[in-house]
Amino acid sequence: MLLAALFLTPGLDRYRVKILVLGAAAGGGFPQWNSNDAAARRARAGDRAAKPMTQSSIAVSHDSKRWVLFNASPDLRQQINHNSWLHPAAQAPIRSSPIASVVLTNADVDHVAGLLNLRESHPLSLYGHPRVLDVLARNSIFNVLNPAYVARRPLDIDKEIEICDQGGDSLGITVTTFPVPGKVALWLEDPAASDFGTAPGDTVGVKISCGAASFFYIPGCAAMTDDLAQRLQGAALVFFDGTLWRDDEMIATGLGSKTGRRMGHMSCSGADGTISTFRDLNVARKVFIHINNSNPLLLFDSAERREARMEGWEIAVDGMEIEL
Ligand code: MLT
Ligand code: MN
Repeated sequence: MLLAALFLTPGLDRYRVKILVLGAAAGGGFPQWNSNDAAARRARAGDRAAKPMTQSSIAVSHDSKRWVLFNASPDLRQQINHNSWLHPAAQAPIRSSPIASVVLTNADVDHVAGLLNLRESHPLSLYGHPRVLDVLARNSIFNVLNPAYVARRPLDIDKEIEICDQGGDSLGITVTTFPVPGKVALWLEDPAASDFGTAPGDTVGVKISCGAASFFYIPGCAAMTDDLAQRLQGAALVFFDGTLWRDDEMIATGLGSKTGRRMGHMSCSGADGTISTFRDLNVARKVFIHINNSNPLLLFDSAERREARMEGWEIAVDGMEIEL
């Protein structure tokens, strides 16, 4: 009887958090527009083991009605169209969206360009580290986010912040951001400055909490530090940077001259790679996200994907849903 009452009492399950993977791929998506490698050709040919993926972003909700986006990818319009959770409700006004807020982890093109899709004078709140908000303020194209409708709010490091809609109502989710090794966005690099002009706050990881449930979203991270390992220890769920399988992947495949670390990303494999450094962290669910089109993890029949799965990793796909 008591058990039935518990299940039937409205609101008691309100701390469930739903997570939608809107995009699993890194910048450029899969296949990238100008890629002509074997994986891209398989994807374009409709090979079921080489499924196209959009650029990385997740949506999070505590009631499955109002949603917070974590990063806004250039593919956002397509992601909204493909995820019915993000469609206007049937009884909603003629202009409406369940998306109430956006949280940014850095100013990379694949994380901010989608903001331009969110113009049209829709009430939103937009959260980011002051350095990231400053980048948006200095780029006048982002003025299409009409300030009369879009409230920009700073996320200070290591402070638990309640995510509220534009009007100030809580969305039932709190975030705590923390700096992770990385660098300033590629398009903001200053070749003359030390570390390309990178400063703390340019790239953050985020702990997302909803009542008793919490998980981590870290789509970009160049190294595992003691601080990060401590934060992640025992976590229920971590989405983590799966950009490259190997640190020299871009060089070995003839796609570029930079190592993963130089790009701000640790690699999945290798002695100081992600799979290895997560082994002692006791994380219940580990999900690679922000996977570059060069990474064989994207291919469902690759040996690398099998290896990651054997090590207990899941590989995000567009449309994946997780509830905590
Ligand atoms: C990255 O993740 O390193 C960036 O998204 C690269 C880029 O801006 O193309
Ligand atoms: Mn990226």
